[in-house]
Amino acid sequence: MSLALILLAAGKGTRMESDLPKVLHRLAQAPLLWHALRAGQALEPSRSVVVAGHGAAEVEASTAEFAPEAQVVLQEEQLGTAHAVAQARPALDGFDGDALVLYGDTPFITEATLEAMRDARARHDVVVLGFEAADPGRYGRLIAEGDALERIVEFKDASDAERAITLCNSGVVCAGSRTLFELIDAVGNDNASGEYYLTDIVEIARSRGLSAGVVRCDEAETLGINSRAELRAAEAAFQARKRAELLDEGVQMTAPETVFLAWDTYIGRDAEIEPNVVFGPGVTIETGARIRAFSHLEGCHVSRGAIVGPYARLRPGAELAEEVHVGNFVEVKNAYLAEGVKANHLTYIGDADIGERTNIGAGTITCNYDGFFKHRTTIGKDAFIGSDTMLVAPVTVGDGAMTGSGSVVTEDVPAGALALGRTKQVTKPGFATKLREMLRARKAAQKAAQDAKEG
Ligand code: UD1
Ligand code: MG
Repeated sequence: MSLALILLAAGKGTRMESDLPKVLHRLAQAPLLWHALRAGQALEPSRSVVVAGHGAAEVEASTAEFAPEAQVVLQEEQLGTAHAVAQARPALDGFDGDALVLYGDTPFITEATLEAMRDARARHDVVVLGFEAADPGRYGRLIAEGDALERIVEFKDASDAERAITLCNSGVVCAGSRTLFELIDAVGNDNASGEYYLTDIVEIARSRGLSAGVVRCDEAETLGINSRAELRAAEAAFQARKRAELLDEGVQMTAPETVFLAWDTYIGRDAEIEPNVVFGPGVTIETGARIRAFSHLEGCHVSRGAIVGPYARLRPGAELAEEVHVGNFVEVKNAYLAEGVKANHLTYIGDADIGERTNIGAGTITCNYDGFFKHRTTIGKDAFIGSDTMLVAPVTVGDGAMTGSGSVVTEDVPAGALALGRTKQVTKPGFATKLREMLRARKAAQKAAQDAKEG
């Protein structure tokens, strides 16, 4: 059965106290929306529809970045969850599979739970995801017997007896797409909030002789985010879970509580992550690589046996082959460092390709930017770049070539050549001693004049 995702993301998120739409606030370095989309997309839906409202243009741009194939539809006025789902109808015209409704502000929902809901569709026309709440608060309550669902009652509309129920509605629903829209057509807004409740479809389905069922999940999965405090708590929960997962997968971390991970950080088995390392989005660390303390990495790939840091910075497009060493205060951006390259101290490598085993001396800089354009630096294999070399790009240094320390290299260096681009040294015997005596005498005269003035 083909699947369509309908992701509700029109709400304002008033309690975030923010100009940014709630679903674009970031958790583990990705918008909340992407987390929910990622879980849904793991089921390989043939269509995805995001219902946007507040900050629709920004929500649309963010959706396009992560899921360009998703359609974004506008819900101009937020008249309730059923009304929100109804906005997806034109986008799903002609679609005859199942529809899965997710919330954009519920980032922890897992693929396994969504799969279980899909499986439950074999037994029920409408499937609702529920959870046992430690503190049921204002959640909608599920009136169920076993896995058969009778109806959902919103907190505001519930009796005391219904409020005592602890099985709550997560909001996630799966039903045949045509059935879903037919049921929604019958939803009214005669309730305590004056809203069109998606939850009403259960009672309507039952009255039409359709069956409804509950799939249960852990409460942690349905955690929604409504305020900055909840977002911070969610971040802490995310970090704790991801660190534990990595430890289980064989990553070595002596102080995992000091390592900050992004939503998509991948670290291979037996890789070592020292304390105080921060991962931005898009990082892959292969088996056996070592990331030393206080390094910051984003959008990069570190291969087996490579060593990074301490105090290194890998920026987007940094690609380190096996056994590369990048040491302290070295920054690498948009550059390929082939196997065995060493850049151990105080260096900037940007927009560059560096061949196998080449050594980059301390203080080397690729001067890649002229204020308007970026230019590339290409260095061959087995080259030796002397300390404090300025490589003024575009420039090429051939295989096995050398540059003298302190050189400003503006012209290509052929393979095997030595390039010296610095002024010739002048040495004046005894000059330093004389200069020092002269300056000492001048300082003494100045002090004497000052004393006379004050005395
Ligand atoms: C909803 C459920 C409730 C459930 C709870 C779980 C209904 C009527 N109630 O209540 O049973 O326990 O979620 O968190 O469905 N949205 C729109 N457009 C709208 C209204 C909402 O896009 O017009 C989006 C919101 O941005 C949010 C989601 O739908 O992502 C849920 O809306 P919200 O207002 O938070 O519903 P609750 O009152 O929490
Ligand atoms: Mg809510």
